[in-house]
Amino acid sequence: MKTENILIIGGTGKTGRRVAKNLTQLGHNIRVVGRKTEPAFDWENPDTYGAALKDMDRAYIVYYPDLAVPGSRNAITTLTKKALEAGLEKVVLLSGKGETEAEACEDIVANSGLNYTLVRASWFNQNFSEGAFLDFVLDGVVALPMPEAEIPFVDADDIADVVSKVLIDDSYNGQTITVTGPQKRTFKEVVEIMAEASNKHIQFVPISIDEFKDGMRKAGLPDSYVWLFGYLFQEVLGNPDNQEVSNDVAKVLGRPAKDFETYARQTAATGIWNQVSVE
Ligand SMILES: NC(=O)c1ccc[n+]([C@@H]2O[C@H](COP(=O)([O-])OP(=O)(O)OC[C@H]3O[C@@H](n4cnc5c(N)ncnc54)[C@H](OP(=O)(O)O)[C@@H]3O)[C@@H](O)[C@H]2O)c1
Repeated sequence: MKTENILIIGGTGKTGRRVAKNLTQLGHNIRVVGRKTEPAFDWENPDTYGAALKDMDRAYIVYYPDLAVPGSRNAITTLTKKALEAGLEKVVLLSGKGETEAEACEDIVANSGLNYTLVRASWFNQNFSEGAFLDFVLDGVVALPMPEAEIPFVDADDIADVVSKVLIDDSYNGQTITVTGPQKRTFKEVVEIMAEASNKHIQFVPISIDEFKDGMRKAGLPDSYVWLFGYLFQEVLGNPDNQEVSNDVAKVLGRPAKDFETYARQTAATGIWNQVSVE
């Protein structure tokens, strides 16, 4: 196997960290970048892109906060141009399943002149243990909108295993891989599964999107985040087409995708859901 120099943008996040671990174990040279790394990489500052891309062969691109936000197109255009100039061979872009706003960025990557694979992910299981919804679980009250939505939650371990494979396997060039879990679950169902796995009282409270957005504003979150969550709840979870389960994880990895029960059991065993919430 050829040893590759692989850049992981967002390499300290939910999927990036796991991709970095996988590819390091396979013997590749990894450069993880984010705002606090050396070299530092900041999506808001294109002057930081060049140092990150220098001497790299391939890159995993995690845009933050989301490809749907204004500003993402310019950033992805600049990054892919610089990647081509720097001599990169291939990129894998993490995108969101059902996010029509993200498709413009997918097109930019597809037309960049680089080899590429697009990985479209459903909502992550790890939002409840490493992301925005952890505090709700710790507080024992998960108040979220869209109670009727059936979401094919996907595990970050599966996304990372798929990304690690398609990033170094050129037979996936030009393909779009849709990664979901093996079943659709409502928020109420996943809350019940987490409660049982952690032996803790956790309640699901259905609220409206406006109530959720008001809560975000009261918590002092910027307007751009409030808009983004409104978009994700309304556009992504509100569209029944986005609730389909995909078989791509099994097709790429030759094993089934992880179900929510397994994620909940493994996560509960770490004790993270039985800690006290830190305000
Ligand atoms: N979470 C989901 O359910 C979900 C579902 C589908 C798709 N996605 C996509 O996954 C991506 C990541 O979302 P996430 O919320 O799960 O985050 P994440 O990957 O867990 O963490 C974000 C990463 O980006 C870095 N980062 C933050 N701000 C940055 C900036 N200005 N410049 C450079 N790096 C920055 C962070 O490191 P530093 O803070 O150290 O800079 C961290 O490594 C988004 O594009 C999202 O659309 C997420």
